[in-house]
Amino acid sequence: MAKLTEIGWKEFEALPLEAKRPYLERPGGEGMPYHTLFAQQFDRPLLERLAALANRIRFISKSREGALFLKSFLPHKRAMLYFTQPSSRTFLSHLAACQILGLTTGSVRDTAISSEFKGESKEDSIRTFSSYFDMIIMRTPEKGLAEKMAWELSNSDRPVPILNAGSGKDQHPTQALLDIYTLLRSFETKGGLRNRTVTFCGDLLRGRTVRSLSYLLTNFENIRQMFVAPKELQVPEDVLAILREKNVSYDVSNDLREAVSTSDAVYMTRIQDEWDSAKGESAKIDTSRFKFGAEELALLKPDGIIMHPLPRRDEIATCCDHDPRAMYWRQMRNGMWIRSALIATTFGLENEILNCGY
Ligand code: NCD
Repeated sequence: MAKLTEIGWKEFEALPLEAKRPYLERPGGEGMPYHTLFAQQFDRPLLERLAALANRIRFISKSREGALFLKSFLPHKRAMLYFTQPSSRTFLSHLAACQILGLTTGSVRDTAISSEFKGESKEDSIRTFSSYFDMIIMRTPEKGLAEKMAWELSNSDRPVPILNAGSGKDQHPTQALLDIYTLLRSFETKGGLRNRTVTFCGDLLRGRTVRSLSYLLTNFENIRQMFVAPKELQVPEDVLAILREKNVSYDVSNDLREAVSTSDAVYMTRIQDEWDSAKGESAKIDTSRFKFGAEELALLKPDGIIMHPLPRRDEIATCCDHDPRAMYWRQMRNGMWIRSALIATTFGLENEILNCGY
């Protein structure tokens, strides 16, 4: 198996994402990741194994004994949450996922009160965390920083796994895992995640969750993808290029209602105006036709679902919240289970948990 220590940074950085995968695997981990950096690391068997493990953890944690038993797996390990970009649920969901397995945690959320303020580089900061912690879960605005850190740490005296909890506009692999887990659960008793249409709507240009999920969906049979957005925020070409390469059928449109009526899942996203190059740039775009409300709900199939990575603004009307097809709250909770499955896997515990007799 390829080792991250055997390849220089520039050479590694230049590889296509799928070619990077073997460098990021856990030794002896049957393809499971050690560092989790992008969605391209996960193929269908891995996704199904993670979903099965998440189901198991969810089930075991229902009883007091089960919850205490899960906590007994990693009380000797510590995780660092380095979140220098705003976050509520991704931070708390990873924190809760760690707590389920008994890990203790520390965090840096504001570089203004860390040594970065004194001029320390991010690289040095993260090396510092690896001295105290056994895993680093990180969210940063910089594209590729998680990858650089994974390479750096693997080449250091104290390698620890990196889990990318959102990097720049490019990737959000653990969100894509929870989105896939939600889709698998939602269609489990309804014919499965195949022959489906998934519509993405909103800011598809800058939404990293869209790029990661669009890729993961290519692992499933005959999933048609629809991209509905104002032309200024339409899905970037690199996402479509992957779909063409994988022979996935897709459509680009600006008609949400039409898309909703033929979709099995509608994935709404907010306008990511924190990335505006000029203040107020996004506000000039007419987004009024890219919102999901009572009229769209009436067009949704009886078995269809509405998803959203959250946070939302007004792109889903609150009147939809109590509809059984609104999956965004459950999606959040699913995130906690699949992230604990991923963390358990990173520490090589999947078989132990799956075969534990609970
Ligand atoms: C998303 C993100 O940070 O990319 N949020 C999340 O992690 N659940 C989506 C967003 O911020 O719009």
